[in-house]
Amino acid sequence: MKQAVAILGSTGSIGSSTLQVLDSLADRFAVIALSAHSNHELLTSQINVYRPRFAAATDDTAYNALAESLPDGDTRLLRGSSGLEEICSSDEVDIVVFATSGVSSLSALFCAIEHKKKICIANKELLVMAGALVTAHAKQYNVPLIPVDSEHSAIFQCLNGGGRDHPIKKIYLTGSGGALRMRKKELLEGVSPKEALSHPKWKMGKKITVDSATLMNKGLELIEARWLFDVSPGVPDVVIHPEAVIHSMVEFVDGSVLAQLASCDMRLPIQYALTYPERVPSLVDTLDFSAIRSLTFEEPDTERFPCLRLAKEALYAGGTASCVLNSANEVAVHLFLTEKIGFMDIPAVIEKVLEKHILKDGCSLEEILRLDTWARSQAYEAAARLRRRAVM
Ligand SMILES: NC(=O)c1ccc[n+]([C@@H]2O[C@H](COP(=O)([O-])OP(=O)(O)OC[C@H]3O[C@@H](n4cnc5c(N)ncnc54)[C@H](OP(=O)(O)O)[C@@H]3O)[C@@H](O)[C@H]2O)c1
Repeated sequence: MKQAVAILGSTGSIGSSTLQVLDSLADRFAVIALSAHSNHELLTSQINVYRPRFAAATDDTAYNALAESLPDGDTRLLRGSSGLEEICSSDEVDIVVFATSGVSSLSALFCAIEHKKKICIANKELLVMAGALVTAHAKQYNVPLIPVDSEHSAIFQCLNGGGRDHPIKKIYLTGSGGALRMRKKELLEGVSPKEALSHPKWKMGKKITVDSATLMNKGLELIEARWLFDVSPGVPDVVIHPEAVIHSMVEFVDGSVLAQLASCDMRLPIQYALTYPERVPSLVDTLDFSAIRSLTFEEPDTERFPCLRLAKEALYAGGTASCVLNSANEVAVHLFLTEKIGFMDIPAVIEKVLEKHILKDGCSLEEILRLDTWARSQAYEAAARLRRRAVM
């Protein structure tokens, strides 16, 4: 019997790669639901190919366009976050892939947990913003959260190899260093969106590619690892590894280190999450060890890339700090991509919002969503102040 897979965020980079994996494993999986935010043209073509039982658009304009253009058929069209929740509650769905960006699918994640779906999670912002709540909920319902992010998939695979009960000493999250690893500090100010988006190793969505250039992506991943693997803040750390062959490593208490190596292709961690605990042949190129001349490692430079320092501070502060960090970062990256602020204004905006925020522990989902709105408006204000200062 085929397993029915819902992809929330099917029009994005992870969503499209997930569809390729499902195409290659069509004897095991069937697509039951697809969703987009605003890209109704791509969602329409995906619906025409996969004829899913459900399709959802979270943006009202996109929903209206789809409602007008979709021919009568077997696909039920759903709207907004409640549409995503309906997909996650349906008895017809076995697996949900969270390939959306941002916080909007948080309530759908809670639904998927309550309905005991197999959950493959790429969306790191959900764990950064509400890691304590999400993981407590998953524990309560005894539902594992299977990582899709390549580093966390690598850690998950190392833990499976090392034996779950073996105590972990350290987790090393590797990162290529992003597009600007070699850029001098004084030249970072003038970096354009195009430069920040030219990642040397991975082809990803725009927001995560800018996060890679600022090293915020590694910071978000530290927080994601803290929650996914239930470790204290001092356990995960970052190592820059420009060749991007090792996707992360785990050191056990006996000093033994296990690493996961593979080509830079998200279809591998996506497939591992879908077929876990099985491994099956994949579309991914095997590593050519004769072409890999060396594997090198560096300390991350938090002076040139202060976003990583800010994320580490939020990780140690706990409570609401990582939610504020994430919301302010989303606004700052959006303003950078639309050329309203400069590259080095990204950490400046985030730091201003974090300074204004009053740390709180043990928040409810509603409080987190309210804080998200507050942090976003503070980030816009901080960016406007920076712009005013720059023209004076
Ligand atoms: N790309 C990677 O290789 C990679 C690797 C590891 C982890 N991740 C994580 O995976 C997530 C997705 O990344 P991505 O690179 O695939 O992003 P992306 O290409 O920007 O795609 C995001 C997807 O989410 C949808 N979406 C956007 N805003 C939404 C909203 N407000 N409500 C509901 N859906 C919304 C988009 O729809 P539209 O197309 O209509 O805008 C699209 O389908 C992120 O959390 C990222 O950090 C990505």
